[in-house]
Parts: sequence; C-alpha cells; structure tokens
Amino acid sequence: MQSSQQRCTPLSPEDLQQRYACAQELAMQAARRALEPYRQRDSLVVSHKGDQLQDLVSIVDQDTEAYIKQRLAERFPQDGFLGEETGGATLDAQCIWVVDPIDGTSCFVNGLHSWCVSIGLMVDGEPWLGAVADAVHDELFHACNGQGAWLNQQRLSVHTAPDIAHGVMGVGTSHRRGKQHFIPFIAQLLEEGGTFIRNGSGALMVAYVAAGRLIGYYETHINSWDCLAGLVLVKEAGGVSNDFLRNHGLTEGNPLLVANPQVYAQVASMLGNALDA
Ligand code: IPD
Ligand code: CA
Ligand code: CA
Repeated sequence: MQSSQQRCTPLSPEDLQQRYACAQELAMQAARRALEPYRQRDSLVVSHKGDQLQDLVSIVDQDTEAYIKQRLAERFPQDGFLGEETGGATLDAQCIWVVDPIDGTSCFVNGLHSWCVSIGLMVDGEPWLGAVADAVHDELFHACNGQGAWLNQQRLSVHTAPDIAHGVMGVGTSHRRGKQHFIPFIAQLLEEGGTFIRNGSGALMVAYVAAGRLIGYYETHINSWDCLAGLVLVKEAGGVSNDFLRNHGLTEGNPLLVANPQVYAQVASMLGNALDA
C-alpha cells in the first residue's frame, strides 16, 4: 500500500500495544459518556450539516470528538488525527487516529439503539488497530493486526455462509455519492436469494461482519472514520475488503464491501465497477 506518511523510528511492540489498550478504553469511556445525553435526547439541539437535511450533528458528536481528541493528544502528542467533526491534523504522521465520535447519529437523536464510537489507527498508511464501542449493549469490538478480532473477551470470526442466500447482508447508502448503484444492487441481491438490513450505523454493521452476525456489508460511499476500525476487525476475523484506501479514501471516502471470502467474491462480481466508483 502506498504511504506518504513520515517513517520515523520504528514503533516498538510496546508502543503499539499502548495505543491498542488506549483505543479500547477510550472508545468505551466516550460511548458511556454519551449515554446520559442519549437518554435525555429530547433536550438535544440537532442541526444539519450544510444543505444535507439527512446529515445530522448534535452537541454530543462535537463534545465526544473533543473529548477523544484531547485524551489522544495528551497520551500520544506526536500522532496525527482525523475526526468527522474537526477534520484532519498532522496527517503526515506515522500514526494517524481516525475517529467517528458518534456513528449512527440519526439513530442516536431518534432513540434507536444502533450507535457507537469508532476509533481506528493507521500506522505507516495501513489500518492497524480499531475499537468500536456500543455502550447501549455493553459491546466493545476490537482488533489489532496479528492479534485477532474480539467482542469484549470473545474471539470473533466471520460467518461461514457459502453464498448470499445463507445469511443477512448489511447495506448502506447516503446522499453523498454512488447512490445510483444502490437500487440495482438491492434488486440483484433479492433476485439471487439474498436479504439485507440497514441499521443506521455503518461502523457497527462492519463490526457485525467481523462478528459473523452479517455475512457482509456494502455501502455505496462511506468515510474512513466510519470503517477504519472495522477494516482491521474484518481482516482479523478472516474476512475480506476492497481497497478502501485507494486514491484519497482516507480523506474522501470510497465505496466499501466487506464480507466473508465466499460472499465477497459473489457480491464483488454482482457489483462490477460500482466498487471503483
Ligand atoms: C453514517 C452512518 C450510516 C452510513 C453513512 C454514515 P453518521 O454516519 O454510518 O449508517 O450509511 O454513510 O455517514 O452520520 O451517523 O456518523
Ligand atoms: Ca459515521
Ligand atoms: Ca458521526
């Protein structure tokens, strides 16, 4: 994989392990902090981003990102940071934290249960570790290169479905780009005996692929903060993903397909060039 990142002194296994422990702890702390405003969400002020009526943001998204960013800056001042709410800083650093403070904001503000905090880390241009914390269900999905994927203390592996007719596919789309690929994909999925859900949190659905709850996840365009942690989870659970970081995937997003190897092959061939869009 290409890397414009600075290559400094190689990180020691201890350096990486400290970051892995920090990601897990911080993701769950931040998610638990957001539980109280979630329960009192009637008083939340919610606004739209730009002219995107469906792209919501609340004070909880902003406050949670500020909290995570501050904790990371205290622990690892040399690391870069890319967050949904505050954008990127020091993106030429060897380690870059990629954070969605609340993924599933529409669920959060409407009292639905699918939202989480997602913290991923890139090292030398590679997704290296990630933690996805769902405080409503006390579930912390986490993974680090070479160390497996985990839900709390339980080891994860992807679903064994031989094809799309043997499980549930997760899907997502938004008004950003690529939506012209969505309806044809759903039609073909159903035609070939598949079925799908969309729960409103791309980060959680990618984690569910690692957990074997979903056979795969396809989204027409997703941002890196939604899936960087999940990419490590899926790989460590034995799954496959497309080259999400190609071109400017880190800062501009791309289509995403993650799945077990058999389902990946089938869905990738159904999607054709939609994955390059
Ligand atoms: C969104 C959710 C949604 C996905 C969108 C994301 P947000 O993130 O993950 O499921 O379909 O692509 O933007 O706005 O809730 O952080
Ligand atoms: Ca998100
Ligand atoms: Ca978000």
